Amino acid sequence: MPYRHENDDSIEEETNRVMLLGVGLLAALVLAFPLYRLVEPSNRDQARELNLASLEEQGSSLFQLNCSACHGLNGEGGIGPALNSQQFLQASTTAQTELLISVGVPGTQMSAYSLDHGGPLTSEQIRSLALFIRSWEDDAPDVPDWRTPQGS
Ligand code: HEC
Repeated sequence: MPYRHENDDSIEEETNRVMLLGVGLLAALVLAFPLYRLVEPSNRDQARELNLASLEEQGSSLFQLNCSACHGLNGEGGIGPALNSQQFLQASTTAQTELLISVGVPGTQMSAYSLDHGGPLTSEQIRSLALFIRSWEDDAPDVPDWRTPQGS
């Protein structure tokens, strides 16, 4: 039956084509994945930089609002220690500064700022403050006596 035979052939041809297409798609996916993995870290790094920059900016306005009265508009100190000081910045880590802002220094005018300790700020806001203070490090002036009240 020539007619039926022809039909079987075309079915087989069609099946082969679909299978080839499937294999091709699979290969494309397998190749695309390492390519994506190559590009992804730089996307992530970029997002990280952007986030850190926006946190720092948030920290800047929070600092003017909550801290500058005692620590100076640019961290030069006043009633409170100078924070824009090469020596202070070298002596402390960002994590330590975060902790100190959160908990405060009991018995001094430095009160606790985290919500957990009865203060007004979220942990992200406190992180942004610590990052903002850290951003001074590159060109912080020498202030070895940063803990002595400044400007008096
Ligand atoms: C009412 C005044 C006052 C305000 C407002 C204030 N501080 Fe302080 N801060 C102080 C004093 C005083 C000290 C020193 C405490 C001590 O004797 O150890 C201090 C200490 C610190 C220290 C530790 C410095 C060191 O020498 O180790 C950091 C960091 C700090 N403050 C950050 C902040 C930040 C950030 C804010 C705003 C969220 C803030 N402070 C608001 C008065 C203040």
